[in-house]
Amino acid sequence: MKDIFFCPEESNFYSNCVQNFVLRDCRDSESIVEFGSGDGSPIINSLLKNKFDGFIQGFELNASACKAANLTIDEYNLAHKYIIHNSCLFQSSKPQARYLLANPPYIPAPDSDIYMPLLFGGIDGATVTNELLSLNYENVLILVSSFSNPQSTINQAKENDYFVESFMVLPLKFGYYSSEPKVKKYIESLRLKKIAYYSGDYYFLAGVLFKKSQKSTVDLSSELAQIMTSL
Ligand SMILES: C[S@@+](CC[C@H](N)C(=O)[O-])C[C@H]1O[C@@H](n2cnc3c(N)ncnc32)[C@H](O)[C@@H]1O
Repeated sequence: MKDIFFCPEESNFYSNCVQNFVLRDCRDSESIVEFGSGDGSPIINSLLKNKFDGFIQGFELNASACKAANLTIDEYNLAHKYIIHNSCLFQSSKPQARYLLANPPYIPAPDSDIYMPLLFGGIDGATVTNELLSLNYENVLILVSSFSNPQSTINQAKENDYFVESFMVLPLKFGYYSSEPKVKKYIESLRLKKIAYYSGDYYFLAGVLFKKSQKSTVDLSSELAQIMTSL
């Protein structure tokens, strides 16, 4: 298990966001893509608690995580609703889907030599997140961290014609991966450059539902930006 992402507080928050912002609004035979499924628990828990008649395809590069996830999926007889490929979404043929979901790698660091290299989010932490917002999926539910250049993500979304339909924010304590001394020191340096925002041991993690523009809807981008840069 050591090599598999483990942070129950964060995974539960992601699972709650999926249930509240996506599964409740799903149509029959909805198709969903997920980037970075980890051990699969957030989606498995969501499926066990909600009626869902569609299909979710996950992509997970970590072979042990992918194997563990598919075993649990089989255990709960959910393989007709959720499967996980041991590959990278960016290098796949990108399945068509109305939703893209992700709790992406968002650890900022000078390089990927960190406790879990697959959690490396580029030098500002937002690189993978911002790439996911360039794949042109109609709806994107993604977690955004306040120490990972959140303003760049909000800008990137706007450039790609997304507006913020809804979001919720969790104050989260720096965990195992973000407290690695090399990472923590680097995040401190990003704070001085106003790229990372946190207060003491806490940062904000937001679950954000981005949607491609539709004129009549309210855009919560500025509210999100204000909160994420307030620490
Ligand atoms: C923050 S963890 C989230 C795991 C899980 N969704 C959760 O919330 O518990 C990010 C996951 O993305 C995976 N990952 C990183 N880069 C990836 C890539 N290019 N393609 C697929 N998965 C990737 C990591 O291995 C890791 O399991």
